[in-house]
Amino acid sequence: MVCYIDYKEAPLKYTGQIRLFDAEAFAGMRRACQLTARCLDALADIVKPGVTTAEIDHFVLAFGAKHNALPATLNYRGYTHSCCTSVNHVVCHGIPDDRPLREGDIVNIDVTYILDGWHGDSSRMYPVGTVRRAAERLMEVTYESLLRGIAAVEPGAHIGAIGAAIQLYAESQFCSVVRDFCGHGIGQIFHDTPNILHYGRQDEGPILREGMIFTIEPMINLGKYGVKILKDGWTAVTRDRSLSAQYEHTIGVTSAGCEVFTLSPRDIFYLPNKAKA
Ligand code: MF3
Ligand code: CO
Ligand code: CO
Repeated sequence: MVCYIDYKEAPLKYTGQIRLFDAEAFAGMRRACQLTARCLDALADIVKPGVTTAEIDHFVLAFGAKHNALPATLNYRGYTHSCCTSVNHVVCHGIPDDRPLREGDIVNIDVTYILDGWHGDSSRMYPVGTVRRAAERLMEVTYESLLRGIAAVEPGAHIGAIGAAIQLYAESQFCSVVRDFCGHGIGQIFHDTPNILHYGRQDEGPILREGMIFTIEPMINLGKYGVKILKDGWTAVTRDRSLSAQYEHTIGVTSAGCEVFTLSPRDIFYLPNKAKA
């Protein structure tokens, strides 16, 4: 049995029930998510060969501080950075460090700001200088996978429709969908119920209802979908060392379909360094 609950009934307590949010909550989410999107836009001008991921992390912290927002990842379950930076075969949760990015790398930057109690969670890929065609194609396929997942969102459909759409497309392009991580409910809690799988069948999972808020964040590999976690306890890499990409949006279910809260204000969401801006 799946239960839904008005978010005002147990605002910060994990209950295992799916929260339904109102217009006021949507407004709060819009603000937090737009701040995250503006940070990701600004990073398009910062990511270059020679820049370290620690410098990127510092920018995310400073940008948040300037706008009264705190990165949700800071001190989250022992994680001590302001964002995740996942380079090349790193699938997700890459830890910022002092190694400079190199021409041809692709890096995912994942930022979550907390603004007035609301969480805005989004990530994008950034090409470092000129990248190989295979890397560019993987980013294209991954972004299109996210869009197809978003397009499957409407009240009355099963959550499984999202993963089914993503898997159908990614595999049609001879890429694989990572199984070990999923999207998640979000709002005043960072990682809430329900899980949003990026693979599966369209008749599986709870029914989507107006007022639900969650992320979709498919990780797509050029090789096989298996991942392993490095000894640091965080960094997830592809077992076969193939390239991996990820994009993430936070969305809210509306009567008509959904609202994407984390859209780029500069409309440079996709392949930022190439866009007109
Ligand atoms: N932002 C990631 C997500 O999309 C979670 C990162 S948790 C961390 O859900 F601790 F690794 F930072
Ligand atoms: Co997320
Ligand atoms: Co994220």
